[in-house]
Amino acid sequence: MTAVSSTIPTHGNYHNYHGYRYHHPGGHDSRLALLPRGLFANARVLDVGCNEAQSWGARRVVGVDIDDTLVRMAWRRRRTLWSHQAPLSSAGTSRPNSKRERAPVPASPPVADYFPASCQHMFGPLPIPAADTLDFDISENTFPHNISFRRADWVNESIPEDDGGYNVIVAFSVSKWIHLNGGDAGLSRFFERVYATLVSGGTFVLEAQPRESYIKARKLHPTLQENAQTSQMRPEDFEATLCSIGFKPGQRLGEPGEGRFRRPVDLYVKR
Ligand SMILES: C[S@@+](CC[C@H](N)C(=O)[O-])C[C@H]1O[C@@H](n2cnc3c(N)ncnc32)[C@H](O)[C@@H]1O
Repeated sequence: MTAVSSTIPTHGNYHNYHGYRYHHPGGHDSRLALLPRGLFANARVLDVGCNEAQSWGARRVVGVDIDDTLVRMAWRRRRTLWSHQAPLSSAGTSRPNSKRERAPVPASPPVADYFPASCQHMFGPLPIPAADTLDFDISENTFPHNISFRRADWVNESIPEDDGGYNVIVAFSVSKWIHLNGGDAGLSRFFERVYATLVSGGTFVLEAQPRESYIKARKLHPTLQENAQTSQMRPEDFEATLCSIGFKPGQRLGEPGEGRFRRPVDLYVKR
């Protein structure tokens, strides 16, 4: 499988997607506010089409994206987030300088924007200590070690983390691209893979783009044009397809976003 990193974003692989959608990278993502409280707590999460990716307070988040460059950017962003975060030994946060100086474990997460971006520009990113080292109380289940990224076309390729199963799979604004590139068969395969890799009782969070938004996207490539013409499945049918695979009927969490980014966010639970 050849790596995708094209200047024509035929997979929705926009290189400044979050800056464009939220007006600045790292901007507030209104979709996350809709999710049930505690959904990510102690969960293994897969984010399909992660683009630049985010940390959601989960035990483990794996971001997978078809675009090589986006995956490299996601690793860089992880390092940046770490570099901006407060040292846990200061002000009631919990990145201690050593086990002996350990501060009481705080109820709240570490302060995210403690160091200004200029610090990283002037001095470079902070090194990330290995998990479970003597000097730092961080483990594989704490940020930044709990977040990793893989380049893969997840519809057609598995990744090693799939073997452990996921409690939550998130697919934000990626179904249209899978549908246009793989047709109805590709989208069905995607939904079946989501079902197969979720643990029993696991949750699928789907933000599907509406059919109208396919019109502009399909002009990017003749394959997309052809699949748009021949596909029979419509976003309104996705719930029926997912139920036929084995999910419980979906729950509409809301339609956040503005303008053409106002899209439904639905939640499906694996029986
Ligand atoms: C429009 S962006 C959405 C990004 C992010 N999920 C969000 O909503 O903020 C779609 C992303 O899905 C990725 N993508 C498309 N098809 C994919 C596939 N088959 N496997 C993995 N990633 C894919 C693209 O590279 C792109 O980063």
